[in-house]
Amino acid sequence: MSALLSLSNLEMVFGGLRAVGGVSFEVPEKAIFGLIGPNGAGKTTVFNCVTGVYAPTGGTITFRGRPIGGLPAWKIADLGIARTFQNIRLFGQMSVIENVLVASHRVTKASLLDVIARTDRYAADDAAMRAKAMDLLAFFELDDNAGQLASSLPYGDQRRLEIARALMLDPRVLLLDEPAAGLNSAEAKVLEGQIRTLRDRFDLTVVLVEHNMQVVMGVCEEIHVMDRGETIAHGVPAAVQTDPKVLEAYLGAGHDAVTAPREATAEAPAEVLLSVMDLQVAYGGIQAVKGISLEVRRGELVALIGANGAGKTTTLKAIARMLPLKAGAVAFEGKNLGGVEAHSLVAMGIAMAPEGRAIFPNLTVRENLEMGAYTVDDRGAIAARMDEAVALFPRLGERMAQLGGTLSGGEQQMLAIARALMSGPKLLMLDEPSLGIAPVLVDQIFEAIDRIRRKGLTILLVEQNTRRALAAAQRAYVLVTGEVVLSGDAATLARDPRVQGAYLGEGVHID
Ligand SMILES: Nc1ncnc2c1ncn2[C@@H]1O[C@H](COP(=O)(O)OP(=O)(O)OP(=O)(O)O)[C@@H](O)[C@H]1O
Ligand SMILES: [Mg+2]
Repeated sequence: MSALLSLSNLEMVFGGLRAVGGVSFEVPEKAIFGLIGPNGAGKTTVFNCVTGVYAPTGGTITFRGRPIGGLPAWKIADLGIARTFQNIRLFGQMSVIENVLVASHRVTKASLLDVIARTDRYAADDAAMRAKAMDLLAFFELDDNAGQLASSLPYGDQRRLEIARALMLDPRVLLLDEPAAGLNSAEAKVLEGQIRTLRDRFDLTVVLVEHNMQVVMGVCEEIHVMDRGETIAHGVPAAVQTDPKVLEAYLGAGHDAVTAPREATAEAPAEVLLSVMDLQVAYGGIQAVKGISLEVRRGELVALIGANGAGKTTTLKAIARMLPLKAGAVAFEGKNLGGVEAHSLVAMGIAMAPEGRAIFPNLTVRENLEMGAYTVDDRGAIAARMDEAVALFPRLGERMAQLGGTLSGGEQQMLAIARALMSGPKLLMLDEPSLGIAPVLVDQIFEAIDRIRRKGLTILLVEQNTRRALAAAQRAYVLVTGEVVLSGDAATLARDPRVQGAYLGEGVHID
């Protein structure tokens, strides 16, 4: 097999930081090739260089024998390299099919004149593009959602929609940046199959950046491992998985060992901090949450688990008053939140680290953290929390002056969690804290969450990683299509065959 895409000594320096420091690899034609490494290793930067977002500061990139380093992004797209983004970039206010069609201007046969004059050629072309878009949507089982607003799709579906859009360009190479982020194990398994089928059906070469090891090891034929801009390993999955350097830097020593679920404790129940009564939320005509009731007691860690689209994020957003309630009520410390504005919640003691991070891209890391403490007057308390944030995530300490928008995906996630802690909340709501986080750091984040809880913080956690969530939580609620179907002690739920089976998708094992 000949190399379709090859990198030779690729280097990308930002100011004093060598984000990519001389990386070389060859991607064979029709391969499924993995690029993995810890947060901030330089993976997305490699994609940005290959797709022309950045002109590399050194080295060469060759595609089908032709040097492409430094070419403009549109030119590289025309040559046949398409990608998806780590942070979803959809037009939320456009429909699902329109989001796919926006990519078609590159491949349409109609000229500008045809378009303006709305000639037959334009009409035929338009129909062909729509048919092609529908075909791609059907492949990802999104055809029924074609007319819906993209922003109303659950996270996992938005990721699939991004892939469908990239395929509209008829690429030779598809670069996927964390397509499985936010998918549960059953959904990730489906994605694995789809990646293989795509490769065969469209004669594609796929380069995959992904932190979900089930997917990486399951689907990649060859894997390149980076850490801090350098190559640390390269080989077939079986070799990479057991490479001591990879274990140390990326997977973590006991990467499959999840702490055993804690046993139920017989402590006297604390007072109820948050109570949600018969909550209902609708997006347009679609009822996403159909009457959920739950409570979180002071000092507890409560997990909300369930498949994509079950209504977990919607529930958190409704509690945070980011979405209007159709019915029901939310009370915090006995006070009904009905008339309270979203921005007042932080002062009341509720903080949220939302899914997809939502940090301020044009503010520095320090400024983002300060924004999290805008309700706090005590400079001493702010400084102390800043120190705690840095102790929790040393990488943030190294990057205080860097703009939030230029952080790697995982670094942004660390910032979102740290920022939520800056207000010194009583209740912390975390939406998918492990999203986009390297395996070794997921351990650290869950340890950190446990430490924070022991100090008395109350946490409501939404997490796709069910094993982890149930191991960390005292109690949990299982959501299926907008309703609570099971709830109770987390250790008991972890052993419940219904949790392992039907509710989270077939084949999910929580052991
Ligand atoms: N424009 C930029 N200016 C300054 N630093 C940058 C810029 N872009 C990226 N970096 C830094 O370069 C390093 C590599 O970032 P990159 O986004 O490539 O990491 P990654 O391997 O994709 O990590 P993750 O798994 O967390 O997404 C990071 O530490 C990041 O903060
Ligand atoms: Mg990245």
